[in-house]
Amino acid sequence: MSAASGRCRGGRLWPLAVAVLAAACSDDSPSALDPKGPNAERIAGVWWLMFGLATAVYVVVAGLIIAAAMRGRRTGEGEGRPSRITDSGFIWVGGVIAPVVILGGLAVVTVSTTNDLRRVEPGALRIEVTGHQWWWEVRYPDDDVVTANEIHIPAGRSVEIGLRTKDVIHSFWVPELAGKVDQIPGQHNVIRLKADEPGTYRGFCAEFCGLQHAKMQFLVIADTPADFTRWITRRQRPSGTPPTEEAALGQVVFNRNTCGACHTVRGTDARGTKGPDLSDFGDRETIGAVSLDNNRKNLAEWIKDPQESKPGNLMPPSHLAPDELEALLDYLESLR
Ligand code: CUA
Repeated sequence: MSAASGRCRGGRLWPLAVAVLAAACSDDSPSALDPKGPNAERIAGVWWLMFGLATAVYVVVAGLIIAAAMRGRRTGEGEGRPSRITDSGFIWVGGVIAPVVILGGLAVVTVSTTNDLRRVEPGALRIEVTGHQWWWEVRYPDDDVVTANEIHIPAGRSVEIGLRTKDVIHSFWVPELAGKVDQIPGQHNVIRLKADEPGTYRGFCAEFCGLQHAKMQFLVIADTPADFTRWITRRQRPSGTPPTEEAALGQVVFNRNTCGACHTVRGTDARGTKGPDLSDFGDRETIGAVSLDNNRKNLAEWIKDPQESKPGNLMPPSHLAPDELEALLDYLESLR
């Protein structure tokens, strides 16, 4: 490659680098340095301590390099002003004592923070989250509620989330609320988090898990305690008969196309567990684990061919007549 083509390629890469940096700072990418709960706050505190110490070390070392450069090289014995610190003293202080003090202090802070984050809080809400390629199964074992990709929690209350995986290694990460914890085959890990205020917090799979790893996201929706109780109570009721004739026809389409072999709708014959539970689908904000906004147009596109927007996922394309598709959309939107 010639130098000219190297320059040209470098020139083309600049806008890309700027775009990547801009995306990293956009509102769409929640930051661990903007904590919205006590667990994330502790972690951010450790981050700032590390950043502060690293900056201090950098400034001191850079200062010494500049001072040495300005002082110039000693050319012979006995030249220049005699130094108060001997060479070996300098190595002991700068190369041994200072690193041991700094790294030892950081180790104490890190271990004690990790310990605090593992502490079980009495009265915490228990949730079990299982990672699948590429979506999240969410269970509330004490309330007998199952949902997917959107985790409702009560704001201000500690939550203890048990983490498992159905297939490969995934990693559960809500940057604004807590650190990352891996979901490892055959292992049950736990993460604890709390949201101070009601709001929606975006979560990610933080371990590469295949083709659609980037589209394996989820939402943590912190409700007020009263709203959360209402949400849980509504989830415990069976879905009941469809509210309109169209929706009822949609349920027939749903059953005839054996959607229930992979999906569950609480209180009906649909009891599949290969795909996300759809009992409260009409209430969800997104489709395909935060791949698309949940609206009628996106849902129609998704049902026609889920491979179009999320290639590799398990759901096959459907071949429905237009009126069947409309009825099915009515049915799915009625599930609340
Ligand atoms: Cu699951 Cu990455």
